[in-house]
Amino acid sequence: MKEINDIGPIGVFDSGYGGLTILKEIRKKLPEYDYLYLGDNARAPYGSRSFDVVYEFTLEAVKYLFSKGCRLVILACNTASAKALRTIQQNDLPIIDPTRRVLGVIRPTVEKVGEISKNGNIGVVGTPGTIQSKSYDIEINKLYPDFHVYGHGCKLWAALVESHEAEGDGADYFVRKDINELMNMCPEIDTVILGCTHYPLLINKINEFMPKGVRVVLQGNIVADSLTDYLKRHPEMEKRCEKGGNCSFLTTESPEKFKELASVFLGDDISAKHIDLAKNEQ
Ligand code: DGL
Repeated sequence: MKEINDIGPIGVFDSGYGGLTILKEIRKKLPEYDYLYLGDNARAPYGSRSFDVVYEFTLEAVKYLFSKGCRLVILACNTASAKALRTIQQNDLPIIDPTRRVLGVIRPTVEKVGEISKNGNIGVVGTPGTIQSKSYDIEINKLYPDFHVYGHGCKLWAALVESHEAEGDGADYFVRKDINELMNMCPEIDTVILGCTHYPLLINKINEFMPKGVRVVLQGNIVADSLTDYLKRHPEMEKRCEKGGNCSFLTTESPEKFKELASVFLGDDISAKHIDLAKNEQ
Protein backbone atom coordinates (compact mmCIF):
# COMPACT_ATOMS: atom_id res chain seq x y z
CA MET A 1 0.00 0.00 0.00
CA LYS A 2 1.32 3.46 -0.91
CA GLU A 3 2.00 6.12 1.69
CA ILE A 4 -0.84 8.28 3.01
CA ASN A 5 0.24 11.46 1.26
CA ASP A 6 0.68 9.78 -2.11
CA ILE A 7 -1.43 11.27 -4.83
CA GLY A 8 -3.73 9.75 -7.42
CA PRO A 9 -6.48 10.59 -9.94
CA ILE A 10 -10.07 11.21 -8.88
CA GLY A 11 -12.04 8.03 -9.62
CA VAL A 12 -15.45 8.30 -11.29
CA PHE A 13 -17.58 5.17 -11.39
CA ASP A 14 -20.84 4.24 -13.12
CA SER A 15 -22.52 1.05 -14.27
CA GLY A 16 -21.83 2.24 -17.82
CA TYR A 17 -22.01 5.44 -19.85
CA GLY A 18 -24.14 7.50 -17.44
CA GLY A 19 -21.25 8.73 -15.31
CA LEU A 20 -19.83 10.48 -18.36
CA THR A 21 -22.59 13.09 -17.93
CA ILE A 22 -21.16 13.82 -14.48
CA LEU A 23 -17.51 13.58 -15.52
CA LYS A 24 -18.06 16.07 -18.34
CA GLU A 25 -19.32 18.75 -15.95
CA ILE A 26 -16.72 17.99 -13.28
CA ARG A 27 -13.91 18.36 -15.81
CA LYS A 28 -15.34 21.69 -17.00
CA LYS A 29 -15.32 23.02 -13.46
CA LEU A 30 -12.15 21.31 -12.22
CA PRO A 31 -9.98 20.81 -15.32
CA GLU A 32 -6.70 20.78 -13.42
CA TYR A 33 -7.16 17.34 -11.83
CA ASP A 34 -6.52 13.88 -13.25
CA TYR A 35 -9.51 11.55 -13.59
CA LEU A 36 -9.92 7.81 -13.97
CA TYR A 37 -13.35 6.80 -15.27
CA LEU A 38 -14.63 3.25 -14.86
CA GLY A 39 -17.79 2.00 -16.61
CA ASP A 40 -18.96 -1.51 -15.78
CA ASN A 41 -20.69 -1.68 -19.19
CA ALA A 42 -20.48 -5.47 -19.39
CA ARG A 43 -22.75 -5.80 -16.35
CA ALA A 44 -24.95 -2.72 -16.95
CA PRO A 45 -27.70 -1.85 -16.41
CA TYR A 46 -27.63 -2.15 -12.62
CA GLY A 47 -31.13 -0.67 -12.27
CA SER A 48 -33.10 -3.89 -11.79
CA ARG A 49 -30.43 -5.76 -9.83
CA SER A 50 -30.79 -6.60 -6.13
CA PHE A 51 -29.21 -4.59 -3.32
CA ASP A 52 -26.62 -7.32 -2.69
CA VAL A 53 -25.50 -7.51 -6.31
CA VAL A 54 -25.26 -3.72 -6.78
CA TYR A 55 -23.29 -3.50 -3.53
CA GLU A 56 -20.94 -6.31 -4.54
CA PHE A 57 -20.29 -4.87 -8.04
CA THR A 58 -19.82 -1.33 -6.70
CA LEU A 59 -17.39 -2.47 -4.01
CA GLU A 60 -15.35 -4.34 -6.65
CA ALA A 61 -15.18 -1.17 -8.73
CA VAL A 62 -14.20 1.02 -5.77
CA LYS A 63 -11.45 -1.40 -4.76
CA TYR A 64 -10.20 -1.48 -8.33
CA LEU A 65 -10.04 2.32 -8.52
CA PHE A 66 -8.24 2.39 -5.16
CA SER A 67 -5.72 -0.14 -6.48
CA LYS A 68 -5.05 2.29 -9.36
CA GLY A 69 -4.17 5.05 -6.89
CA CYS A 70 -7.49 6.91 -6.50
CA ARG A 71 -7.86 8.52 -3.07
CA LEU A 72 -11.30 9.89 -3.80
CA VAL A 73 -13.99 8.05 -5.78
CA ILE A 74 -17.28 9.56 -6.97
CA LEU A 75 -20.11 7.09 -7.47
CA ALA A 76 -21.53 8.86 -10.53
CA CYS A 77 -24.46 6.47 -10.41
CA ASN A 78 -27.68 6.91 -8.46
CA THR A 79 -28.35 3.18 -8.24
CA ALA A 80 -24.93 2.55 -6.66
CA SER A 81 -25.31 5.66 -4.47
CA ALA A 82 -28.73 4.41 -3.30
CA LYS A 83 -27.79 0.78 -2.74
CA ALA A 84 -24.09 0.66 -1.89
CA LEU A 85 -22.69 4.03 -0.79
CA ARG A 86 -23.67 3.97 2.87
CA THR A 87 -22.42 0.41 3.48
CA ILE A 88 -19.15 1.16 1.72
CA GLN A 89 -18.66 4.38 3.73
CA GLN A 90 -19.61 2.85 7.06
CA ASN A 91 -18.40 -0.75 6.86
CA ASP A 92 -15.80 -1.12 4.12
CA LEU A 93 -13.76 2.09 4.11
CA PRO A 94 -12.66 1.82 7.75
CA ILE A 95 -11.18 -1.61 6.93
CA ILE A 96 -9.80 -0.89 3.44
CA ASP A 97 -8.31 2.55 4.15
CA PRO A 98 -9.96 5.13 6.42
CA THR A 99 -8.11 7.99 4.72
CA ARG A 100 -9.83 7.43 1.35
CA ARG A 101 -13.29 8.71 0.48
CA VAL A 102 -16.26 7.61 -1.61
CA LEU A 103 -18.97 10.19 -2.41
CA GLY A 104 -22.34 9.83 -4.13
CA VAL A 105 -24.71 11.93 -6.24
CA ILE A 106 -28.05 11.83 -4.40
CA ARG A 107 -27.37 14.12 -1.44
CA PRO A 108 -25.93 17.04 -3.49
CA THR A 109 -28.91 16.83 -5.87
CA VAL A 110 -31.45 16.88 -3.07
CA GLU A 111 -29.82 19.92 -1.47
CA LYS A 112 -30.61 21.96 -4.61
CA VAL A 113 -34.26 21.01 -4.92
CA GLY A 114 -35.48 23.54 -2.37
CA GLU A 115 -34.10 26.38 -4.48
CA ILE A 116 -35.86 25.14 -7.61
CA SER A 117 -39.37 23.99 -6.72
CA LYS A 118 -42.09 26.58 -6.14
CA ASN A 119 -44.84 24.27 -4.88
CA GLY A 120 -42.91 21.39 -3.25
CA ASN A 121 -44.23 18.70 -5.61
CA ILE A 122 -41.14 16.85 -6.78
CA GLY A 123 -41.03 14.11 -9.39
CA VAL A 124 -38.08 11.74 -9.53
CA VAL A 125 -37.34 9.47 -12.46
CA GLY A 126 -34.68 6.84 -11.94
CA THR A 127 -33.96 3.15 -12.27
CA PRO A 128 -36.45 0.81 -10.58
CA GLY A 129 -33.75 0.13 -7.96
CA THR A 130 -33.22 3.80 -7.08
CA ILE A 131 -36.96 4.45 -6.87
CA GLN A 132 -37.69 1.32 -4.79
CA SER A 133 -34.90 2.26 -2.36
CA LYS A 134 -36.85 5.47 -1.56
CA SER A 135 -33.48 7.23 -1.15
CA TYR A 136 -34.77 10.43 -2.78
CA ASP A 137 -37.96 10.47 -0.70
CA ILE A 138 -35.98 9.99 2.52
CA GLU A 139 -33.29 12.55 1.72
CA ILE A 140 -35.73 15.18 0.40
CA ASN A 141 -38.02 14.85 3.39
CA LYS A 142 -35.07 15.16 5.80
CA LEU A 143 -34.32 18.62 4.37
CA TYR A 144 -37.84 19.64 3.29
CA PRO A 145 -40.41 17.83 5.45
CA ASP A 146 -43.37 19.51 3.67
CA PHE A 147 -42.38 18.43 0.16
CA HIS A 148 -44.20 15.62 -1.66
CA VAL A 149 -42.06 13.25 -3.64
CA TYR A 150 -43.38 11.15 -6.55
CA GLY A 151 -40.94 8.54 -7.80
CA HIS A 152 -41.28 6.63 -11.06
CA GLY A 153 -38.94 3.81 -12.12
CA CYS A 154 -38.11 3.86 -15.83
CA LYS A 155 -37.34 0.24 -16.64
CA LEU A 156 -35.73 0.74 -20.03
CA TRP A 157 -34.20 4.21 -20.20
CA ALA A 158 -30.69 3.21 -19.06
CA ALA A 159 -30.84 0.10 -21.27
CA LEU A 160 -31.70 2.29 -24.29
CA VAL A 161 -28.60 4.38 -23.63
CA GLU A 162 -26.36 1.35 -23.02
CA SER A 163 -27.51 -0.21 -26.29
CA HIS A 164 -26.90 3.01 -28.28
CA GLU A 165 -30.66 3.44 -28.89
CA ALA A 166 -31.07 6.85 -27.21
CA GLU A 167 -31.87 8.52 -30.52
CA GLY A 168 -34.17 5.77 -31.86
CA ASP A 169 -37.96 5.54 -32.14
CA GLY A 170 -38.08 3.06 -29.25
CA ALA A 171 -36.72 5.81 -27.02
CA ASP A 172 -39.59 8.13 -28.08
CA TYR A 173 -42.13 5.52 -27.08
CA PHE A 174 -40.66 4.77 -23.65
CA VAL A 175 -39.74 8.35 -22.70
CA ARG A 176 -43.26 9.58 -23.50
CA LYS A 177 -44.90 6.66 -21.68
CA ASP A 178 -42.82 7.04 -18.49
CA ILE A 179 -43.21 10.83 -18.35
CA ASN A 180 -46.98 10.43 -18.72
CA GLU A 181 -47.02 7.83 -15.94
CA LEU A 182 -45.04 10.15 -13.66
CA MET A 183 -47.24 13.18 -14.33
CA ASN A 184 -50.38 11.07 -13.78
CA MET A 185 -49.18 10.48 -10.20
CA CYS A 186 -49.53 14.23 -9.57
CA PRO A 187 -50.23 16.76 -12.34
CA GLU A 188 -48.96 19.56 -10.02
CA ILE A 189 -45.36 18.31 -10.12
CA ASP A 190 -43.26 21.42 -10.96
CA THR A 191 -39.77 19.91 -10.72
CA VAL A 192 -38.47 16.59 -12.04
CA ILE A 193 -35.11 15.22 -10.92
CA LEU A 194 -33.35 13.07 -13.49
CA GLY A 195 -32.21 10.63 -10.80
CA CYS A 196 -30.12 8.47 -13.10
CA THR A 197 -26.89 9.68 -14.66
CA HIS A 198 -27.77 7.96 -17.95
CA TYR A 199 -30.79 10.19 -18.52
CA PRO A 200 -29.04 13.36 -19.76
CA LEU A 201 -28.15 11.25 -22.80
CA LEU A 202 -31.92 11.20 -23.48
CA ILE A 203 -32.40 14.91 -22.76
CA ASN A 204 -33.74 15.86 -26.22
CA LYS A 205 -36.56 13.36 -25.90
CA ILE A 206 -37.19 14.21 -22.25
CA ASN A 207 -37.55 17.91 -23.11
CA GLU A 208 -39.85 17.02 -25.99
CA PHE A 209 -42.31 15.05 -23.87
CA MET A 210 -42.12 16.90 -20.53
CA PRO A 211 -45.10 19.23 -19.98
CA LYS A 212 -44.18 22.91 -20.45
CA GLY A 213 -43.25 24.74 -17.28
CA VAL A 214 -41.87 21.68 -15.46
CA ARG A 215 -38.25 22.21 -14.40
CA VAL A 216 -35.95 19.30 -15.25
CA VAL A 217 -33.00 18.90 -12.85
CA LEU A 218 -29.77 17.47 -14.29
CA GLN A 219 -27.11 16.35 -11.84
CA GLY A 220 -23.85 17.07 -13.67
CA ASN A 221 -23.51 20.71 -12.67
CA ILE A 222 -24.77 20.12 -9.19
CA VAL A 223 -22.29 17.32 -8.51
CA ALA A 224 -19.45 19.38 -10.01
CA ASP A 225 -20.28 22.31 -7.68
CA SER A 226 -20.55 20.01 -4.72
CA LEU A 227 -17.15 18.41 -5.49
CA THR A 228 -15.56 21.86 -5.86
CA ASP A 229 -16.92 22.78 -2.46
CA TYR A 230 -15.82 19.45 -0.94
CA LEU A 231 -12.22 19.93 -2.13
CA LYS A 232 -12.17 23.45 -0.66
CA ARG A 233 -13.40 22.18 2.68
CA HIS A 234 -11.01 19.20 2.67
CA PRO A 235 -7.51 20.44 1.82
CA GLU A 236 -6.02 17.18 3.12
CA MET A 237 -7.89 15.31 0.35
CA GLU A 238 -7.35 18.03 -2.26
CA LYS A 239 -3.58 17.63 -1.83
CA ARG A 240 -3.90 13.93 -2.62
CA CYS A 241 -5.69 14.52 -5.94
CA GLU A 242 -3.20 14.45 -8.77
CA LYS A 243 -3.06 17.49 -11.04
CA GLY A 244 -2.18 17.14 -14.71
CA GLY A 245 -5.47 17.60 -16.52
CA ASN A 246 -5.47 13.98 -17.77
CA CYS A 247 -8.41 11.62 -18.07
CA SER A 248 -8.26 7.85 -18.62
CA PHE A 249 -11.12 5.44 -19.29
CA LEU A 250 -11.67 1.85 -18.22
CA THR A 251 -14.55 -0.37 -19.29
CA THR A 252 -15.52 -3.96 -18.60
CA GLU A 253 -16.98 -4.15 -22.16
CA SER A 254 -15.17 -3.79 -25.46
CA PRO A 255 -13.04 -0.60 -25.54
CA GLU A 256 -14.05 0.04 -29.18
CA LYS A 257 -17.74 0.01 -28.28
CA PHE A 258 -17.12 2.28 -25.28
CA LYS A 259 -15.05 4.70 -27.31
CA GLU A 260 -17.76 5.10 -29.97
CA LEU A 261 -20.39 6.61 -27.69
CA ALA A 262 -18.02 8.21 -25.17
CA SER A 263 -16.12 10.11 -27.88
CA VAL A 264 -19.32 11.51 -29.38
CA PHE A 265 -20.73 12.49 -26.01
CA LEU A 266 -17.53 14.06 -24.65
CA GLY A 267 -16.63 15.64 -27.99
CA ASP A 268 -13.14 14.20 -27.66
CA ASP A 269 -11.45 11.24 -29.35
CA ILE A 270 -10.93 9.13 -26.25
CA SER A 271 -9.42 5.68 -25.90
CA ALA A 272 -10.42 3.12 -23.30
CA LYS A 273 -8.82 0.06 -21.74
CA HIS A 274 -10.63 -3.19 -21.05
CA ILE A 275 -10.59 -4.55 -17.50
CA ASP A 276 -12.27 -7.52 -15.85
CA LEU A 277 -13.64 -6.58 -12.44
CA ALA A 278 -14.91 -10.05 -11.56
CA LYS A 279 -11.35 -11.44 -11.84
CA ASN A 280 -9.99 -8.31 -10.14
CA GLU A 281 -7.43 -8.26 -12.92
CA GLN A 282 -5.07 -5.28 -12.66
N1 DGL B 1 -26.46 5.51 -14.31
C1 DGL B 1 -26.98 4.77 -13.23
C2 DGL B 1 -27.81 5.59 -12.29
O1 DGL B 1 -27.53 6.78 -12.15
C3 DGL B 1 -27.41 3.35 -13.43
C4 DGL B 1 -28.21 2.96 -14.60
C5 DGL B 1 -28.28 1.46 -14.66
O2 DGL B 1 -27.22 0.83 -14.71
O3 DGL B 1 -29.39 0.89 -14.62
O4 DGL B 1 -28.70 5.11 -11.66
